[in-house]
Formats: sequence, structure tokens, C-alpha cells
Amino acid sequence: MSNRAVDAIVLVGGQGTRLRPLTLSAPKPMLPTAGVPFLTHLLSRIKAVGVDHVILGTSYQPTVFSDYFGDGASLGLELEYVVEEEPLGTGGAIGNVRHLLRGDTTLIFNGDVLSGCDLEAMLNRHATTGADVTLHLTKVEDPRAFGCVPTDGDGRVVAFLEKDPNPVTDQINAGTYVFRRAVVDSIPSGRPVSVERETFPQLLASGALVSAYVDSTYWRDLGKPGDFAAGSADLVRGIAPSAALAGRTGEYLVLPGATVSPSAVLSGGTTIGAGCVVEAGAIVHGSVLFDRARIGAAGSVTDSLIGCDATIGERTVLADVVIGDRADIGADVELRYGARVWPDAVLADASVRFSADA
Ligand code: GDD
Ligand code: MG
Repeated sequence: MSNRAVDAIVLVGGQGTRLRPLTLSAPKPMLPTAGVPFLTHLLSRIKAVGVDHVILGTSYQPTVFSDYFGDGASLGLELEYVVEEEPLGTGGAIGNVRHLLRGDTTLIFNGDVLSGCDLEAMLNRHATTGADVTLHLTKVEDPRAFGCVPTDGDGRVVAFLEKDPNPVTDQINAGTYVFRRAVVDSIPSGRPVSVERETFPQLLASGALVSAYVDSTYWRDLGKPGDFAAGSADLVRGIAPSAALAGRTGEYLVLPGATVSPSAVLSGGTTIGAGCVVEAGAIVHGSVLFDRARIGAAGSVTDSLIGCDATIGERTVLADVVIGDRADIGADVELRYGARVWPDAVLADASVRFSADA
């Protein structure tokens, strides 16, 4: 595919507050999903559509990105980094990298979305409609946490209503855009700008052609713990597409250097990180164990995220929880329903039972 004249921007400057405490030690797009930082999946999709020049708009923990990806050569990309000293918001971040753009067409991505969107088809649509901006839209059950984006019969966007408590449609902003250069240039500099709350509504008010690319491929925002675990599991199981994972799908993924007892049961797209230990009779379902985590004998971990070097005691039950790096959870503990344990915390044996049915 020849999209060499197209630049890409990935917005990765958010603090990932909804994924704390895991985002205290790494930005959200760098958290491991199916064995690699989430951003690897997105960058591989960008490469697969023939776009080589990618700019990361960073702010929170910027060096974590550059230390890992460097100049992008290992992915066949030319990667550049721009750091916002103070976060400039999603729109400000786009305007802030304008000096690095080379062509008239820019693909822009929220850095936390897992999607099967056909980027080639989206770029073609942008070219044939002659739009100023093309937005990828998808339908979700509950649109209130997203940008609600109604369209008319011709596929023109008619409004952009960010996080509307009373959404007029279940069609939402899926977080991938194509911008004309003039639109990037029109974003004010030197202050925070929200592309969702300021740029899109202003473009619509001024009569610009904002065109919709609607599809129903796989789509998930990985900003919350449950979605992060589910997205990672979908990657492992091959339900979510990733050019970074060819031929590596199954009910679970065990990374090199992990030790899993033959009597442990792994299922639901679980990833066991490098150097992890899963002891006899433990059950791990739909979860992500970051590197060197340890699950004690007969422990049960479901739909959860377990940080690096965390230790989970024997017979302990975890469901829908986030455990911070190095936390030490004793034996016979029970934690459920979105509980979060901070890094280095120590819960003594049987000291916690956080469960409605206990
Ligand atoms: N560089 C930079 N600077 N990036 C930022 C900043 C900033 O100040 N603020 C947020 N970002 C990045 C985040 O890192 C993330 O990758 C992306 O912008 C979107 O931010 P989120 O915080 O994840 O937003 P959201 O999920 O609540 O809503 C957005 O995504 C939805 C789809 O997933 C909006 O674009 C919604 O309209 C959309 O429906
Ligand atoms: Mg998000």
C-alpha cells in the first residue's frame, strides 16, 4: 500500500488515571497487552497500512516511550517524539506537532483504542469525499462515556457531543481521525485545546465538511481495568486483530521464563508475563499477569490485572481487581468488584474479605 505521503500522530499524553495504580509506573499505552506494550499493536496497524512516519504526542512519563521504541526502526517506522511540558489536551497535542508534518493528510489516533478499523478504506473515503476531517465512528451500548456523533443521510457529521449524559445516538467517536493539514494549522497554540470539546464543534459551526467513516469491526477503548483485561484477552484469543501477533493466538499466552504448574488452569485469553510463577491448582481466567507476578497454590484470579512482582497467596480469590506492582497479598484473601491495591501494599493472610456473598 502506498500511503507514504500520509503522516500519523498518536496521542499518548494522558495520565491513565482510570488504570491506576498500574499507570503510576508506566503510561497507559505502554502497559503490557498480550505480551507487548499496547502501543505496539497500534503501531503495527499503522505500519500495515503503509504509513511510516509516526509522531507520538507525549506528556506523562515521555521517556518510557522513547526508551522502548527508540527511532522506530525495529517496527520499520520512522518515529518522532514531541513532549508537552504541561498537557495540551487532545487538540493542543495535535497542533503542537504540526512542524513535523510533511503532507496534507494526517491519520490521528487516540493511543488507547484497540480496533479493527480498515485504515486504507478510511483514507480512501477521506480522499473521495474531499472532507476536511474524517472521523471513525462505531456503535456502543452505552455512549455516555464517549463522544456522541450524530450524522445525516449523506454521512456528514452534524454534531459532536463529548460525554453527553443524554446521548441522541449510540454512534460514538471511535478515536481515529483523518485531518487535512489546514485543520491542524487552525488549532490555537500555547494553551490546552480539547479536540472533542472545542475543535470539532467549531469546525461544524464554521460549515467545514466533517465526514463519517462508520463500521462495525472490533472496537474497544482500553482506558478502564475491565476493558484493559478484556482487550488483552481478545488479542490473545485472536478476537481482536493485531498485526503484531501473527500466529500467536489461543486460550492463553505464557511468556518465556514463566513457570506454570501442570495442575494450574489458564483460560479466557490470560497472559502470564515473563518470569511469573503460577503454582499448583491455581486458576487464572481472562487476566493479565505482568512480569514476575506469583500466584500461590489454589489461588483464583479472574478478569484482573496483576502488577509486576506482585505476590498472591495460597487460596486467595481475586475477581475484577487491579493489584499494584510488588503488592503482597496474603493467603485466603478475597477481593472483588473493582478493588485496587496500591504498589508495595501488604495484606496479611485472610485479612481482607471484600465480597457481597461472603
Ligand atoms: N499528548 C496528549 N496530551 N495526549 C493526551 C492528552 C494531552 O493533554 N490528554 C489525553 N491524551 C491522550 C490519551 O493518552 C489517550 O490516548 C487519548 O488522548 C484519549 O484520551 P482518553 O483520556 O483516553 O479519552 P476518553 O477515552 O475519555 O475519550 C476519548 O476517546 C473516546 C474513544 O475511546 C474521546 O476522544 C471520546 O470522544 C472518544 O469517544
Ligand atoms: Mg480512552
